[in-house]
Amino acid sequence: MERIYITTPLYYVNAEPHLGHTYTTVVADTLKRYYQSIGCETFLLTGTDEHGDKIAQAAQASGMDPKAYADRVSRLFRSTWDTCGIAYDYFIRTTDSYHKEFVQKILQKIYDAGDIYFGEYGGFYCYGCERFYTEKELVDGKCPDHQKEPDYISEKNYFFRMSRYRDQLIDAIESRTDLIRPERYRTEVLAFLREPLEDLCISRPISRLQWGIPLPFDTNYVTYVWFDALLNYVSALEHCGGDAVQNLWPKANHLIAKDILKPHAVYWPTMLMAAGLPLYEHLNVHGYWVMDSGKMSKSLGNVVRPLEMKDRFGMDAFRYFLLREMAFGQDAKFSLEALITRINADLANNLGNLVSRILAMQQKYFDGVVHPLGPEWAKEDQDLKNKFAHAEIELTGYMADLQFHRALEAVWSAIDHANRYIVQTAPYTLYKDEANRSRVGEVLHHLLEVLRTLSRLLGPFMPDTARDLKTLLGVVDSGLEQVPSSMGGNSLLRIPNQEWGKYFQSGHVVQGPKILFPRIEMPVTE
Ligand code: MSP
Repeated sequence: MERIYITTPLYYVNAEPHLGHTYTTVVADTLKRYYQSIGCETFLLTGTDEHGDKIAQAAQASGMDPKAYADRVSRLFRSTWDTCGIAYDYFIRTTDSYHKEFVQKILQKIYDAGDIYFGEYGGFYCYGCERFYTEKELVDGKCPDHQKEPDYISEKNYFFRMSRYRDQLIDAIESRTDLIRPERYRTEVLAFLREPLEDLCISRPISRLQWGIPLPFDTNYVTYVWFDALLNYVSALEHCGGDAVQNLWPKANHLIAKDILKPHAVYWPTMLMAAGLPLYEHLNVHGYWVMDSGKMSKSLGNVVRPLEMKDRFGMDAFRYFLLREMAFGQDAKFSLEALITRINADLANNLGNLVSRILAMQQKYFDGVVHPLGPEWAKEDQDLKNKFAHAEIELTGYMADLQFHRALEAVWSAIDHANRYIVQTAPYTLYKDEANRSRVGEVLHHLLEVLRTLSRLLGPFMPDTARDLKTLLGVVDSGLEQVPSSMGGNSLLRIPNQEWGKYFQSGHVVQGPKILFPRIEMPVTE
């Protein structure tokens, strides 16, 4: 059976879940649901990154011990994903004891192999990024991400001999052209690797930082952030037991934004090489959400919180917007106006109206009872079916390329076609003449097939809507194949793709109309 192992970054616990975290997590969830729907075994990992200066400082600022502070924010991330219906299989915390032991095991292994050494280094350190910057990387002497002058730090530390793996890494990226995708990020990494690669500082003396994992070969030092956090992707699998590492690790699909490209595209694969582990299958990199008002920040008061979005617009509408608006790999703009416009146009109008029109006519004309289909179909019926079959083929291609916005566009193009089919066949006019009643029944049967197909195609993107549609149609998930997930995660449901026209048996009753997406008033702006 095909497998896919999907990961999100482990989010730092010094901030609350916001739009950026939610986007990556929603993409991960969509991919999981999609691969599940086509019969793959899936495993989705998320969690929190809890060690390091930044967290220690944030804990101190709140007058809390770092562990108690991390417990609180980690719980908040987890409960947020639970409330948002994210179907993660495992939630890892870098403070979990098995993770710390795993990090120590790998550190010892790499140290014994001679790839970790003790040395002195002075450099520009950005606490926001938790890494050293070369002078060349700074823009006007500042970290380009945090717009802050980094601190000059010089001290004795342990270093990972990353430079040794430069050529091997270039070979891997050149020979596996989809290792890092989309292409623009692969190009960026290859350009970076044309310069000499420095070794990576992986420790902090405990005199300066205690909030990390003690080095097994020198307890006066801790490791923190990257050497700690990146290993989560394997430690979680090892912890889950069985053949998880063997089966799932080579199928790893990391999802990250461009801010953490270098650690994932350079540090991580070289660490894997040194540890004698295979590389991940794909590093999938997306762009940044930017606000009209600039960078999202607490001080600007423009932080978009997922639970507020869910309460105000519904989780599926929010998911739809995120997946439809951003071209994976490129930046996108977030504004309430754009969100509301999309909800009203695509969901309330195009999809919502289609659903309510079909179910209203079925109710009004036939008390919800589905009319059988004859063997002869009109050309427009066949075209409608073909349009949806074509949309599904397009969707499959786009999903393989992480082009979620295009996949949704393909589905909406089919929805538009279905709306036009109603206008073209005009069942409300036909119904006036009793001789046409049987044709009206057939037209509506085809339209119910549209809704049934949509309940399947939309499942990965809008799971609640897909479930609602199935309920309205009386499509039962019985007799589905139950594929047990290897690690006791969610059991997998495969929805059989029964042929168009063969699903609704004579006498099948569907429910009356329901408003799935109410229109939203645009807030008045000054
Ligand atoms: N802890 C590290 C990752 C360690 S992974 C082993 C970290 N954490 S973070 O909390 O800063 O999360 C960064 C990630 O959050 C990004 O890579 C992206 O997935 C998401 N986003 C945060 N802000 C974002 C936007 N404004 N837009 C899109 N996604 C962004 O880095």
